[in-house]
Amino acid sequence: MNTYIGIDLGTSSVKLLLVAADGGILRSTTEEYPVCYPQSGWSEQDPRDWLSATVKGLDVLLKGTDRANVKGVSFGGQMHGLVLLDKDDNVIRPAILWNDGRTQKQTNYLNDEVGKKELSRCTANIAFAGFTAPKILWVRENEPENFARIAKIMLPKDYLAYKFTGVHSTDYSDASGTLLLDVERKRWSAEMCAVCSVKEEWLPTLYESYAVVGRMKEEFGLPNAVVTAGAGDNAAAAIGTGTTADGDCNVSLGTSGTVFIAQDRFSVDENNALHSFAHASGKYHLMGCILSAASCNKWWMEEILQTSDFGKEQDGLEALLGKNPVYFLPYLMGERSPHNDVNARGGFLGMRPDTSRGHMTLAVLEGVAFALRDCVEVAAQSGLSVTRTKICGGGAKSKLWKRIIANCFGVPVVTLNTEEGPSYGAAMLAMVGAGEYKNVQSAVEAIVREKEVTLPDATLTELYEKKYRVFRTLYPALKGVFGDMAE
Ligand code: XUL
Repeated sequence: MNTYIGIDLGTSSVKLLLVAADGGILRSTTEEYPVCYPQSGWSEQDPRDWLSATVKGLDVLLKGTDRANVKGVSFGGQMHGLVLLDKDDNVIRPAILWNDGRTQKQTNYLNDEVGKKELSRCTANIAFAGFTAPKILWVRENEPENFARIAKIMLPKDYLAYKFTGVHSTDYSDASGTLLLDVERKRWSAEMCAVCSVKEEWLPTLYESYAVVGRMKEEFGLPNAVVTAGAGDNAAAAIGTGTTADGDCNVSLGTSGTVFIAQDRFSVDENNALHSFAHASGKYHLMGCILSAASCNKWWMEEILQTSDFGKEQDGLEALLGKNPVYFLPYLMGERSPHNDVNARGGFLGMRPDTSRGHMTLAVLEGVAFALRDCVEVAAQSGLSVTRTKICGGGAKSKLWKRIIANCFGVPVVTLNTEEGPSYGAAMLAMVGAGEYKNVQSAVEAIVREKEVTLPDATLTELYEKKYRVFRTLYPALKGVFGDMAE
């Protein structure tokens, strides 16, 4: 039986899935690695930790199985991270991650001096602090000795692909988040390379996500496996949830939270508030990204309440739906969409003497849902209405959170046969590359199944609409305060 491996290189861990050609999940495993926050708002990881965790994960995943059956490997990866290698392929410095906010100055330079209009013309996007190009400018300015050593630039999952195959590759969906790709024409932007002093030879070769870039090197013990380019984690998740038809929506509740809208044709929203990126299907998508989603709940549970029993903390909270007086702002790492503000911070508001632990736990889940609703609103302003959405990511395991999202968006929320969006999508990209399915669409039709629909309730939708109207006034009221706090 042919099998495929999907690797989701996440922020807190790498998840590996072993999937049969008919889509059945045979095994899965997760290996964790640390995130390092060397200064407030910074976030870094050592690419070598990704590799050793993945290699260890492969051994656990495949123990006792016939490794010769594995016909393909692919990736979904945390996007935007800057990985720099020197001429001897040494890692020059820790990777600067997607949720790192150190590049305010460089982001302002790009948006204000180069100009949003020009950025959008060249790349279909404006600069956000987490994107790769501002990070390259930061290294040029702050670590000239490191900048001088650059021989290769790559994104996180591309480091794994490079180590596995020896091929310096990336795919269009992930490359879209560098701000160096001309997304519409699917080629590196010479103008942006010039702005960032990047030589095009430093950049990886571009592939479609399902295209074969090479074969696994012998040392990894997968003699029959091809490696396809893979995708940014959100595009991979969209494949894994079958979000490929024009207008289809997927919400991901991982470390970040995203609202992903598949598009048949290339488009850019008027204020570039949504990212306009290539899709792993070969088409395009628009996306809003909030920097802290399931990570807010993880922080609240593990750091503050000191518990690992997330389910127990949510027991009984259904009774409070729509009636919670407490609000939570989920901006623990600043915010990307739609505020584009590295100084924004988290907070609880509306507490009273009778506020309980349960109110605050619920507020965290609701705050994330409201922040995602902000992205849905931006889409609506561009004429894109979300009438139904799929959902994936760790947060999608919570029935309570799905009910909150269904009522906060006022739309049905669909769970698929697996919540493992990116790793499942990655396995599907491997299947297409190996010829198991003729294209992504056929793989989706053959494999992805809807499992459960969470419907909105008219009364709760109305109550959440009122609460959302309050929520959306909070950030504008506090924006100046966040700025003062950062000084
Ligand atoms: C998307 C983004 C995040 C990361 C998380 O633009 O920055 O969703 O990809 O891994």
